Amino acid sequence: MSIALVSTIAELQAATAALLRQRAGQETVPEEAASQRKPAGTLGLVPTMGALHAGHAELARTAVAENSVVVATVFINPLQFGDPADLARYPRTTEADLALLEQAGVDFMFAPDVAQMYPNGEPSVRITAGKAGEMFEGASRPGHFDGALTIVAKLLHVGMPETGLAAPDTAGRPSYRAYFGQKDAQQLALVRAMVAELNFPVEIVAVPIVRDEDGLALSSRNRFLSAEERESALVLSRALRLLKRRADAHEPLDTASAEELVRSAPGVELDYLEVVDPRTLAVRAENCQDTPFTGEALVLIAAKVGPVRLIDNMLLG
Ligand code: PAF
Repeated sequence: MSIALVSTIAELQAATAALLRQRAGQETVPEEAASQRKPAGTLGLVPTMGALHAGHAELARTAVAENSVVVATVFINPLQFGDPADLARYPRTTEADLALLEQAGVDFMFAPDVAQMYPNGEPSVRITAGKAGEMFEGASRPGHFDGALTIVAKLLHVGMPETGLAAPDTAGRPSYRAYFGQKDAQQLALVRAMVAELNFPVEIVAVPIVRDEDGLALSSRNRFLSAEERESALVLSRALRLLKRRADAHEPLDTASAEELVRSAPGVELDYLEVVDPRTLAVRAENCQDTPFTGEALVLIAAKVGPVRLIDNMLLG
């Protein structure tokens, strides 16, 4: 089936309900193929802001492999941009996005306009990310995570299948899943917290970072890097790999030397490099400098490379 482009909530909900019912009725696969059969009645949602790349394709393919119907959303959410110039310059690549999603096997691309998502103008009720939304990325982008959580909450409700309300599939997993990239580790942690604390009937699935061969984490912003800036940007993943080698060898992480490495690259302005708890993102004070590394941690890094702000992260242990 080729992908369908839908732009209204009513259209999306009717179309996904019809396809879920249709596919549930087609469950006459021979027994030997049962292991490859996708659970009937399961819906996967892949929220994006478009400008899709191979990292998004991986999100979409994972959702397609695990669900009978998949919706990808493409909505550039004004609420999560502090700077109007940043919003204006965000790439809009609808045709290419549609082609990438179709190739990945997605059923629907939901691309609403701002009036569809915020019919009364700026919403008066918002989700707040709290203190955890003010650290790291939140420190340099005030309000960003409140805006991101508000639209994610809305998209999760808009996309929720009528048959999927908390009904587990045969493997005991919720029948509704949403897919987020590990690259935006702070966003992922905040979405997980929102879903857990507010009891949304959806499973959040994290999909690993996709990197170019030279190690650069894929990002919609990479297209704004000049050739020299792109070369300098490689220092981010180099610093993360250095810390991973030390963690694997149970050596002290000596994050100060990793920070030095990042600062030594031309045109790179380090914002933060922090070793945190992978679930809570609380900063881990121990094991970073002088004591042997033990346990599990996540290293978060953010830097400006020329005019482009980049983030990356890596799990240790
Ligand atoms: O990660 C993104 O692209 C956005 O923050 C999201 C989750 C689609 C919400 O606008």
